[in-house]
Amino acid sequence: MWRFREVFTLFLLCLSAVSVAAQGTRRRGRQWQTLSGNAPLVIARGGFSGVFPYSSYYAFKLALISGLPNVHIWCDVQLTKDGVGICFPDIRLENSSNIKSVYGNKSNIYNIDGEQEQGWFSVDFTLTDLKLVSMNQGIYTRVPHFNGNNLPILTVDDVVRLTKPPGLWLNIPHDAFFSQHNLSMRSFIISATRRMIVNYISSPQVGFLRSIISRFRTGPTKLVFQFLGPDDVEPFTNQTYRLLMKNLTFIKTFATGIIVPKSYIWPVNNSLYLHNYTSLVLDSHKAGLEVFASGLANDASLPYNYSYDPVAEYLSFIDNGQFSVDGVLSDFPLTASATIDCFSHMGKNDTARAVYIDTILCSASNAANLLVISSEGASGDYPGCTDKAYTKAVSDGVDILDCPVQLTSDGIPFCLGSINLKEKTNAGEPNFTNLSTTNPDLNIVDGILAYNLTWSQILTLKPAIFNPYSKYSLFRNPAAKNVGKLMQLSEFLAFANNASSISGVLISIENAAYLAEKQGLGVTDAVLDALSKAGYNNQTAKKIMIKSSNSAVLSKFKSTSNYELVYQIDEVISDILNTTILEIRKFASSVVIRKGSVFPTDDGFIAGETSIVPKIQAFNLPVYVGLFRNEFVSQPYDFFSDAYVEINAHFAAGIDGVITDYPATAAKFKRNRCLGYKDTPPYMTPFPARLLIDLISPRYLPPAEAPSPILMDDDVAEPPLPPVTERPPTVTTGSGSTAPGPTPRNGQPTLFPSTILHVLAISLSTLICGGQNFDTSYTIL
Ligand SMILES: *[C@@H]1O[C@H](CO)[C@@H](O)[C@H](O)[C@H]1NC(C)=O
Ligand SMILES: *[C@@H]1O[C@H](CO)[C@@H](O)[C@H](O)[C@H]1NC(C)=O
Ligand SMILES: *[C@@H]1O[C@H](CO)[C@@H](O)[C@H](O)[C@H]1NC(C)=O
Ligand SMILES: *[C@@H]1O[C@H](CO)[C@@H](O)[C@H](O)[C@H]1NC(C)=O
Ligand SMILES: *[C@@H]1O[C@H](CO)[C@@H](O)[C@H](O)[C@H]1NC(C)=O
Ligand SMILES: *[C@@H]1O[C@H](CO)[C@@H](O)[C@H](O)[C@H]1NC(C)=O
Ligand SMILES: *[C@@H]1O[C@H](CO)[C@@H](O)[C@H](O)[C@H]1NC(C)=O
Ligand SMILES: *[C@@H]1O[C@H](CO)[C@@H](O)[C@H](O)[C@H]1NC(C)=O
Ligand SMILES: *[C@@H]1O[C@H](CO)[C@@H](O)[C@H](O)[C@H]1NC(C)=O
Ligand SMILES: *[C@@H]1O[C@H](CO)[C@@H](O)[C@H](O)[C@H]1NC(C)=O
Ligand SMILES: *[C@@H]1O[C@H](CO)[C@@H](O)[C@H](O)[C@H]1NC(C)=O
Ligand SMILES: *[C@@H]1O[C@H](CO)[C@@H](O)[C@H](O)[C@H]1NC(C)=O
Repeated sequence: MWRFREVFTLFLLCLSAVSVAAQGTRRRGRQWQTLSGNAPLVIARGGFSGVFPYSSYYAFKLALISGLPNVHIWCDVQLTKDGVGICFPDIRLENSSNIKSVYGNKSNIYNIDGEQEQGWFSVDFTLTDLKLVSMNQGIYTRVPHFNGNNLPILTVDDVVRLTKPPGLWLNIPHDAFFSQHNLSMRSFIISATRRMIVNYISSPQVGFLRSIISRFRTGPTKLVFQFLGPDDVEPFTNQTYRLLMKNLTFIKTFATGIIVPKSYIWPVNNSLYLHNYTSLVLDSHKAGLEVFASGLANDASLPYNYSYDPVAEYLSFIDNGQFSVDGVLSDFPLTASATIDCFSHMGKNDTARAVYIDTILCSASNAANLLVISSEGASGDYPGCTDKAYTKAVSDGVDILDCPVQLTSDGIPFCLGSINLKEKTNAGEPNFTNLSTTNPDLNIVDGILAYNLTWSQILTLKPAIFNPYSKYSLFRNPAAKNVGKLMQLSEFLAFANNASSISGVLISIENAAYLAEKQGLGVTDAVLDALSKAGYNNQTAKKIMIKSSNSAVLSKFKSTSNYELVYQIDEVISDILNTTILEIRKFASSVVIRKGSVFPTDDGFIAGETSIVPKIQAFNLPVYVGLFRNEFVSQPYDFFSDAYVEINAHFAAGIDGVITDYPATAAKFKRNRCLGYKDTPPYMTPFPARLLIDLISPRYLPPAEAPSPILMDDDVAEPPLPPVTERPPTVTTGSGSTAPGPTPRNGQPTLFPSTILHVLAISLSTLICGGQNFDTSYTIL
């Protein structure tokens, strides 16, 4: 069985380091609109259940290690046949454990809230019986890889003894069911509060809370009433929870607070957009009740208003200028903790340096040196390269606004993220099908190509928002899916010139060789011409970056301009030769690499960290990394479905800039105040690479991926750009072009094939402790 003791000792070491660090960063007087005026509480629902099995030791420990110093641990209490309280999400044990395979013939049928239900119920097993059972992942969209770790079912007493939580919250979802089985939840709770400090007890059942209120009226344990769905009926009052919400004075007679599903506070319409907030929090505070919001998880479908940014969602509950809830129940307590400490009450113009310079003894963070480069403007929110996307990117705080240049058949350069109009406009719709062609030179099947339409034809198209994760049903701002206007490069340059907050523009050029040779279109000349007409060649206020994955394009600019030339390495690589970097330096002054070239992954788990970033930087070439996106399926699991964690890991790896569909997120990361603390708190500390993969038992390891290639001199060499041929050619289908194909998109699956359970002991020693990342002296510098 699993070695609790040594593992525990290791964790304790980590933990003490963390709490010292956290104390060093205690903040001075910020105002909170909670009932008490204190910062809202983070309640880790089942521990860090977004990553590890709910209520498992791993989940509790990771929550405590990575959260605020006062993070509360939430345990749903179920009783065993012998009356022992265990932490388990459900009275049915088959959901979240392997009990089916251990006690195949011991299921039963019982009446639960009026329904006959079959399952493996805790009341049919003694604690000793349950020693043979281990926990696993009950939510199928989360990783099942820890199901082989033989994580035991924990009793409430185990949790306190092994994890020493700074706050304990016991939730009693089913009191009546246990009474039917002659088991008294009341007795369990009353005896538990004699053995341990219980900070909160909650239940959706009025009868249960009223049966214990006399014991707890004077504290210190607080009783909290949990609202279920508005149409569910509360058994004691025989009223719906919706109706009970109108009766806060009644609730106040037996509770000091309420838990409500998040939509009670921020309702959504049928298309998953937010309505205005309700008055629930303000009313409850007036009635003297604390409010805790439930249902917060980074890997849920967030309302579109949040742009897949979980921090934005937390902020709407705790920092909206009108009210703050008193606590949040979270499956990802790290994100909730970071929101409270690092991201709340952030003035729009604050920076880590500006706000905290007075309190920092060591030098301030170098956050300001992370360049935020857009990818087609704020293309996570609006159709890419439209006026809407660019305006949003500027107001979001982007540093460098980008334009991927395409040419029309009449030679007009304009901004669009793909040469294939079907990808980013409505050209896929029926009235354009006669323009569809297949172009093997560009690797495009059945596309509509920008160079085949005139600018006036393109103006008849509607831009379309790009949905890279539609197969996961994660869509981008559907209400705006066809809004905005496309811009000619000249319009883009004029727009950028007027945007005083941005420091420069990045112009991407692909397919130049193909367009010159096969279509008679000179894209480099068109770009140079537009820049010169816009006055960019004789002004110095804005930086001009030209990006291409074709060295010949950059060489051409090198001979005719002194712009920053950015070489994009399209493929994921595992290393790069010094001689290759020297080659790159001949035609480029900075480099873009992919995320996988910094942190290679095996099936969505980070498998290590390459040395490519420092290696390239050693030759004085800044390294930018793309593509950063908010949708959690775009991130390796090790980043906890939190785009900020992903950016932070790359920032700590020393990169010079991010290329992102969501500049708001990167800009907010840069300004977060925790980067300026003397001791970086755990929720802003990058975890060691291989954090998760080293915890997975061997039988459950994802298959190792073949190592990526090493970039060599030949890979960057290109023949010079061919001269621009005579127009008008027809669309040819010849071969032998040197033009690169479209850049592959990147994304990880969330669903894994189910695997057989296997019991394996594994040491936890590598979790966090191994990398010493919680050393108090660790700083990002
Ligand atoms: C259940 O299965 C176990 C072994 O698998 C067996 O010993 C036991 O008799 C079975 N009980 C019933 C009620 O079938
Ligand atoms: C377990 O329960 C959760 C919540 O009720 C549900 O979403 C999930 O599908 C269940 N999983 C299994 C394996 O039954
Ligand atoms: C509960 O106790 C009562 C009275 O002692 C008994 O009649 C009943 O059968 C018991 N129920 C269960 C489920 O054990
Ligand atoms: C509040 O609820 C209690 C219990 O259901 C009920 O007795 C009381 O009449 C209710 N008050 C109002 C104003 O609805
Ligand atoms: C509960 O309320 C419903 C409708 O309000 C009523 O039909 C039902 O009889 C009530 N049940 C009890 C046990 O009072
Ligand atoms: C929901 O709100 C959004 C944004 O306000 C709006 O575009 C959409 O039409 C609404 N959907 C419904 C079903 O009301
Ligand atoms: C939102 O609701 C609050 C009160 O609930 C109200 O004061 C405010 O004006 C509303 N805002 C909008 C934009 O409707
Ligand atoms: C923030 O900066 C902008 C532009 O730099 C300025 O217009 C605005 O007044 C500033 N806001 C505050 C609150 O300082
Ligand atoms: C577009 O392509 C078609 C056939 O491929 C060609 O006939 C037509 O002239 C092209 N149009 C333009 C504007 O280049
Ligand atoms: C495409 O067809 C629709 C419906 O026939 C029409 O409303 C629309 O204007 C057409 N679009 C273009 C660009 O011709
Ligand atoms: C910059 O160049 C443009 C076009 O070449 C010209 O119209 C403009 O006057 C120049 N501005 C300055 C300040 O030299
Ligand atoms: C590559 O260059 C770096 C920095 O100049 C140097 O430290 C390293 O030894 C070189 N590696 C090889 C294999 O030459």
